[in-house]
Amino acid sequence: MSQGDQPKSSYSDLQDSDVAHQMHGFGHPAMQKMPRQLVVFESGDGAVLRDIEGKEYLDAMAGITVAHLGHGREDLARVAYEQRNLTNTNAVKVCERLSGLAAQAFPGADKMDGARVYLTAGGAEGIEAAYHLALRYWNKSGPLGTSYGGGYRKQKLISFRNCYHGSTFIPASMKPEFSDYGWKRWMEGQPKEVYGSAAHRMFVNIDPPHELFMDKSKIKPGENVGQAAARQLEETILGEGPDTVAAFVFEPVQGDGGAVDMHRDFFPLAEEICKKHNVLMIADEIMAFAKTGHWFGMELYGGVCPDMMVISKGLTCGYLPMGAVIFRNAIWRTAFENLSTKFMVSDVWQHDYTWSGHPVCAAVALRALDIVESEGLITKCAERGRVFLDILKRKLEGLHVVQQVRGTGVMLGVDLISDIATDIEQKVLLEYGVVLRASTNKHCLLLTPPYVMTDDQFERVADALRSVLSSSATMLESAVSKSRQH
Ligand SMILES: Cc1ncc(COP(=O)(O)O)c(C=O)c1O
Repeated sequence: MSQGDQPKSSYSDLQDSDVAHQMHGFGHPAMQKMPRQLVVFESGDGAVLRDIEGKEYLDAMAGITVAHLGHGREDLARVAYEQRNLTNTNAVKVCERLSGLAAQAFPGADKMDGARVYLTAGGAEGIEAAYHLALRYWNKSGPLGTSYGGGYRKQKLISFRNCYHGSTFIPASMKPEFSDYGWKRWMEGQPKEVYGSAAHRMFVNIDPPHELFMDKSKIKPGENVGQAAARQLEETILGEGPDTVAAFVFEPVQGDGGAVDMHRDFFPLAEEICKKHNVLMIADEIMAFAKTGHWFGMELYGGVCPDMMVISKGLTCGYLPMGAVIFRNAIWRTAFENLSTKFMVSDVWQHDYTWSGHPVCAAVALRALDIVESEGLITKCAERGRVFLDILKRKLEGLHVVQQVRGTGVMLGVDLISDIATDIEQKVLLEYGVVLRASTNKHCLLLTPPYVMTDDQFERVADALRSVLSSSATMLESAVSKSRQH
């Protein structure tokens, strides 16, 4: 029987099969088994998704924050089909294009001019590669011909609390709130003198410079949150030992954490501090790329140019998996040109992914970048985001349960006074047919709509949220947020 001849599955068949066979990302088995909690989409068009029963949903998330261009674009599907003979000039062109975009965003000979690009198939892979590259950079910054250069001790990573950098070992280790996988879990299996000792620590966290996420007790009189977080960064580097810190990794706007943008004083100060103590800056642009009203989220912060940027989601606008690490030419020169004339195995970049630079994904990435450019979508994203933010503010601010409505481009967040964002996510999905997402901290709702969502659709999303949040007031009052600060 061909696929087209197969009888349509019902929700109860699919749920039985799902419970028996599938493990969901960020899923809980109890939720998987709850009657009618499973929503399976069958098709999509623009900002509208349709489930297997034909019910329509407004997608205020753009898939998993990827489909900026909306669903169902035939031009992107067609370009994938046209690659059936798998020519791979596309990967080269994607690298050239991304290097050019970075140079344009951060002009200057010592910035992203001549940037190099390493292709991956996704976000966490890119973070792993960026960390490996940082280690290699420090190894090779020592005497020529050795792989154990002056920076060999530089291994530690500093990251923000409330971050999300992915689910593989290194990214999971950077998120202090994750405890059952990553470095924290590994250390817990060690004797006490090892667990708790700075000498053995590889991952350290600081507060994000945001009024709701900074631990207020750490702000000194006369400091704003940006200055306080920058001071914390420097104290952390000094406390751990600058000769042990490889890089500071951060999202320009925290996505999964609830669309948290950073105090504008922070990054210029952080740049000075990182330069002074020889710490690389790695911007995780995986969610922010092409979503903040700029190509790169770091453009929000007055020209502060990181050493590396990791991108993914918006690169193909969700149509196929692809990511990239874009890094300064100076990193390339130290890491790959400061080599012995003898061929040494340790000089080889011992890192590769089967799907890096896949020709079909690369073709779709090129077409998606073309569309974003030719349709002026970076500017449009800023405009559409502002319209949606105004609507959300008008309809939600003042509700007892809403602490803050915020947004940068099409990364928007509704911060609640309590940790019940998952319940809200479920209610708006099942009762109002609106797709949005609870952040992993459980007190924020994240909305990252596609550029094609109309004003009327924005209003409907905000109305659905208003109804659910209003009716949840009593439940919310009973559980004040525990996760916001420590
Ligand atoms: C900021 C950020 N970093 C990293 C990742 C991980 O990317 P992936 O799921 O492609 O590994 C994500 C995914 O949501 C993300 O939003």
